[in-house]
Amino acid sequence: MSETITFTIDGTEIKGAPGMTILEAADQCGVYIPRLCKAKGLAPRGSCRVCTVMVNGRPQSACTQPISEGAIVENDTAALRDHRRQIIEMLLIEGNHFCPLCERSGSCELQALGYRLGIMAPRYPYMFPKRDMDTDHPDLMIDRNRCILCGRCVNASRDVDGKTVYEFAGRSVHKHIATDAAAGLAGTRAAADDRAAEVCPVGSIIRKRTAYAVPIGRRPFDKKPIGSEIEAKQA
Ligand code: FES
Repeated sequence: MSETITFTIDGTEIKGAPGMTILEAADQCGVYIPRLCKAKGLAPRGSCRVCTVMVNGRPQSACTQPISEGAIVENDTAALRDHRRQIIEMLLIEGNHFCPLCERSGSCELQALGYRLGIMAPRYPYMFPKRDMDTDHPDLMIDRNRCILCGRCVNASRDVDGKTVYEFAGRSVHKHIATDAAAGLAGTRAAADDRAAEVCPVGSIIRKRTAYAVPIGRRPFDKKPIGSEIEAKQA
């Protein structure tokens, strides 16, 4: 049996090892597939659907779909770009994301995806939900206004930190990130150097006393769009 699987993404030949996902093989070959709930080193959740690609004509999430010999994958098409734009726009309107004031501006993956996908203004009306903050922990805080329910913190706390500090609670529009102590984050074993505190793609889990440490112009997405580090592998 061949140790290498060959398939194409938008006509470009991609090679990967058996068991790899489409996202992993694409990353390795310098093809960027937008993603949000998947973070490096964490198990995929397959929940945001931003990484949706067409595989032999059927939609699949690239972060969970294993590669297969001869598959024809479409990634950068007008229809998929619009699908991703719709998801990002829905996330932008259903929370309270005030980018100009947010300390993650310039390093926020939601904002960076909005720029990369050319979103000027969401096509849906803003919902302006009432959401709370959890600020009692000495080194960390949760701002649920900005949470996009990606679940990265849940996976990282459970699988990397071994603490299960974060979990989802509630349903539908009431779904929110909760902690494993009734007293909130301050009653948990959460620490500032937890992987869970690092992987938040937006400004929801924040390390205190780190705000605006990187000046405008030197933040990760100030000069290059999200995904450039992956595409640089092709050069
Ligand atoms: Fe694949 Fe979210 S990154 S579903």
